[in-house]
Amino acid sequence: MISDAIETTQCQRKDPVDLFHSGHFVKICAPMVRYSKLAFRTLVRKYNCDLCYTPMIIAADFVRSVKARDSEFTTSKGDRPLIVQFAANEAQVLSDAARIVCPFADGIDLNCGCPQRWAMAEGYGACLINKPELVQDMVRHVRNQVENPRFSVSIKIRIHDDLKRTVDLCRKAEATGVSWITVHGRNVEERHQPVHYDAIKIIKQNLSIPIVANGDVKTLKDAENIHHMTGTDGKNSAYFGYYFSKFARKWTF
Ligand SMILES: Cc1cc2nc3c(=O)[nH]c(=O)nc-3n(C[C@H](O)[C@H](O)[C@H](O)COP(=O)(O)O)c2cc1C
Repeated sequence: MISDAIETTQCQRKDPVDLFHSGHFVKICAPMVRYSKLAFRTLVRKYNCDLCYTPMIIAADFVRSVKARDSEFTTSKGDRPLIVQFAANEAQVLSDAARIVCPFADGIDLNCGCPQRWAMAEGYGACLINKPELVQDMVRHVRNQVENPRFSVSIKIRIHDDLKRTVDLCRKAEATGVSWITVHGRNVEERHQPVHYDAIKIIKQNLSIPIVANGDVKTLKDAENIHHMTGTDGKNSAYFGYYFSKFARKWTF
């Protein structure tokens, strides 16, 4: 599928970071395993979604197997800007995966937020919030090995109980050249509990790069409220257009 897409998608490249500096409210469709595939992305783009993520893809499988690539990743001409989200725990593997998708996407995102037991046991997802140096190493590798400097490298995190650790993680990621950080404002144990928007606000105040607030966005109004609650300026911040996917709500991580 990737090879079929080469000619049709290469010319459509967009810089997703420009969206955050456009001065407009940026509507983003969150990564969702089994949902945010090409058909779903095509649908939400018709409803003015600005930026779409693929579901989380295991980078090691993606690099190793053509079959995994063909089943996990499809795209099309209008499917831009597109961020491919990976689960990874090794810098070289993540950067190999990033180099494979680079011609067909606008950036990659490292999942540091999945709290599922199997993922944490493999060293993927939310356990990475406790390994800032590994996150830095992974980001740095992608930055160094993907030739296009406009290809974005972002991370999606959950918060610590001790917010200082989250701010420290974010600062380290920022120093390594991460393009933006999405903050799902819950800790690893929390599922449907209220989102800690105050924590997102503090993170935003301590960082210069765009911060995307995530959690409990079910309507556009919710997104606007969160925008005010987190005190961000609307120019370099944005919110998941998760309201696009309220029909897909089967479980939450
Ligand atoms: C069905 C489903 C699949 C999800 N898959 C992913 C995923 O692949 N990667 C990821 O980072 N988050 C994933 N999430 C989490 C969402 O991206 C988002 O962080 C979460 O839904 C926000 O919390 P909320 O549901 O309370 O709004 C998924 C959520 C749902 C409901």
